[in-house]
Amino acid sequence: MFDSGLGGLTVVRALREALPNEDVVYLGDTARVPYGTKGAATVVRYAIGCTKYLVDRGVKAVVIACNTVSAVAPERLRIEFDLPVLGVIDPGARAAVAASVTGRIGVLATTGTVASGAYARAVQQYSTRAEVFSQAAPLLVPLAEEGWTEGEVPNLIIDRYLLPLREANVDALVLGCTHYPLLRPAIELRARALLGQSVNVVDSAQSAAADVADFLRTRQMQNERGDRGTLELLVTDLPATFETIATRFLGERVSGTTQVNL
Ligand code: DGL
Repeated sequence: MFDSGLGGLTVVRALREALPNEDVVYLGDTARVPYGTKGAATVVRYAIGCTKYLVDRGVKAVVIACNTVSAVAPERLRIEFDLPVLGVIDPGARAAVAASVTGRIGVLATTGTVASGAYARAVQQYSTRAEVFSQAAPLLVPLAEEGWTEGEVPNLIIDRYLLPLREANVDALVLGCTHYPLLRPAIELRARALLGQSVNVVDSAQSAAADVADFLRTRQMQNERGDRGTLELLVTDLPATFETIATRFLGERVSGTTQVNL
């Protein structure tokens, strides 16, 4: 699995709950984070480098934990590499279609993900009736990393991002970025207040984990070993900086992270 940095650990967390026996190699490109503010061509180039590294490590499948990469790179990676490549947008879109009654779906994501139009395209595969309203919410990334996940400051910022979605009358809201699950209680609270009590919040990390589990099971690619799978953490910048914040994202103590060069 790879991500632009440490946010993808929310996907690792969900994946290890869904598939406790799988060995996970996680690569966080902390030297080049953020991807969400960069152009598609740059993100694709970075994604190719990360995938190559993981393929050389002998993995059986690659999971793109990052929404921004999943928005612009999966097709290219499937052409370049001869192994399954799974992203987070398709499962998130499918879950959103299932969660919406009116077919009006809101998406909070990075600027890059919103610019790509990837959620709207993915939703169209599951419902021709559904409409996607995307809102870039870049300030939520540093808030999650700072640990400012509840109270006045995040609530104010979340409200500003939700206002256009209120105008659009959405009844489902996709957390379309690796970092947003940390802010889920605050986003849910404000979404209920602004968009209505019946709004359904969809976490793309959880949908993606369920999708990977399904994929491995149906292809009989799952690890049959009975013991808990290992988790190897690799980063492209200083491990110490990563580990301080990573524990919160992963929900378990992070240590033994290794720095690698791509
Ligand atoms: N991982 C990114 C995403 O899910 C958020 C952080 C970044 O901008 O690199 O879109």
